[in-house]
Amino acid sequence: MRDLIVKLGGSVITNKAVKESPRIDVIRSLVGIFKDRFRVLIHGGGSFGHYVAYEVGLNRRPVSFEDALKVMKSMDRLSNIVLRSLEEFNVKILLMRPREFVINKELRLYKVFEDVLVKYKKRGANILTHGDVVVDIGRYNFSVCSGDVLALIFARIFRPKAVIFLSDVDGIYTKDPKRDPSAKLIEDISGSELVGAFEGSSSTDVTGGMKLKVETIKRISEITDVYVLNGFKLDNLKRFLSGDDFVGTRIRKE
Ligand SMILES: Nc1ncnc2c1ncn2[C@@H]1O[C@H](COP(=O)(O)OP(=O)(O)OP(=O)(O)O)[C@@H](O)[C@H]1O
Ligand SMILES: [Mg+2]
Repeated sequence: MRDLIVKLGGSVITNKAVKESPRIDVIRSLVGIFKDRFRVLIHGGGSFGHYVAYEVGLNRRPVSFEDALKVMKSMDRLSNIVLRSLEEFNVKILLMRPREFVINKELRLYKVFEDVLVKYKKRGANILTHGDVVVDIGRYNFSVCSGDVLALIFARIFRPKAVIFLSDVDGIYTKDPKRDPSAKLIEDISGSELVGAFEGSSSTDVTGGMKLKVETIKRISEITDVYVLNGFKLDNLKRFLSGDDFVGTRIRKE
């Protein structure tokens, strides 16, 4: 499968329990597996963005430019690591940071300056982007534009074959698999069925945890198929890419 949008979840490419701890080997392996397959690569915040965002109160109260900048700089450190891996594999890709093309209002997406993205797409560019802090014209001055929401923004523009979310579990479960042993993996479902099949829970995610992720996935599934797969199970990812049986969640386009 080619022409994908791939989101490397922060839960895979960092250790979320320890501040600013990248998993460099995992990043390298995933870039190696997906390098000829993606048009757009997105990465989450993990223990970089989410951690510093929590420290400064982003998405909970108004933040100063200085505090917003701290989160941006943290994300820059992570995206530099991802970029270095991409360079090692000689992937031709352009980094575009959402702080330069997105405005939020009251924590929600308000405006995307799409024109420049569309022009790059027409010229054949591959894009790297990441969850970021953006200007918010509501009460909070700045807020988060998550990697999950970016997957939706780029799916609208790039119309990929599929959008792939990689996280640290096998897919979307009926409940949080780390807290509830009775959680069952959802294997194949339509976007509209997904929202009902899933029970919300909180996670250490400043952007609304799993509920928001599932709602965003539902909206992407109106454009293209979505897959949620385990980013640590490399053989499973290879099987998926070559069209063999795989473990994960498929959300069918409807
Ligand atoms: N119903 C569910 N199905 C699957 N995972 C769930 C569910 N409910 C909660 N989770 C948790 O969601 C986590 C993945 O979301 P999380 O936002 O933490 O990671 P991510 O999106 O990969 O990271 P980032 O936001 O930094 O990109 C998993 O580790 C899992 O424990
Ligand atoms: Mg997340």
